Amino acid sequence: MRITVLTGAGISAESGLATFRASDGLWENHRVEDVATPEGFAADPELVHRFYNMRRAAAAGARPNAAHLALADLARRHDLTLVTQNVDDLHERAGSPDVIHMHGSLTGALCAACGHRWPAPPVMSPDDPCPACARPSTRPDIVWFGEMPYHMERIWDALESADLFAAIGTSGNVYPAAGFAQAARRGGVECVELNLDDSANARDFHRRITGPASRTVPDWVASLG
Ligand code: APR
Repeated sequence: MRITVLTGAGISAESGLATFRASDGLWENHRVEDVATPEGFAADPELVHRFYNMRRAAAAGARPNAAHLALADLARRHDLTLVTQNVDDLHERAGSPDVIHMHGSLTGALCAACGHRWPAPPVMSPDDPCPACARPSTRPDIVWFGEMPYHMERIWDALESADLFAAIGTSGNVYPAAGFAQAARRGGVECVELNLDDSANARDFHRRITGPASRTVPDWVASLG
């Protein structure tokens, strides 16, 4: 079966990584404008690097949970396209072979001047010279608000060609990901949502499975055979 899965911060919550819109979430303690926009980076690159250095350290100290492991297992039995909004590498560390990071990844660094990409060191600073052009214009390879998500053509193809679409641990607040279920549904694809609570786009799904991902995802994967 061809399955397309979208994951959000909720799949990593039980690995101890903060989500964005919970009461103690990242956006409660940081202004999006300051740390997740090109304008914020231009205004204070030091603050932005500190924010992502903290998140990179948290991700490095976290471990994949049963939900990540179940999706890695799913890829061994079905034609799975795994898309994540998350920038941690817990899917990769769980063994998922091909993870599409539509919002980039904490493991990547990008030169704002020449576009060169390389593996991010654990700690980045505005003074780091680009390995290719030597200019001090390095940034985390993260897609900020107002920037184009990565790999969208491949993602739309995977949504249209799927037999089944599942969204796991995402609040359905941020487009284009929040529109994936509607797009899949228009193409006649069965849509299921796995979440702890109701998402903002819950009505776009044929079926909803409520509970913590570390319990619901392994059960759901087992049900697919
Ligand atoms: N199991 C399953 N779902 C959970 C769990 C859990 N243990 N804990 C939280 N959730 C759900 C919440 O109910 C919520 O619907 O995960 C979702 C987290 O929502 P957000 O914090 O908004 O995270 P996400 O949907 O991934 O945000 C999307 O917004 O700020 C941008 O770029 C950022 O990629 C992010 C995007």
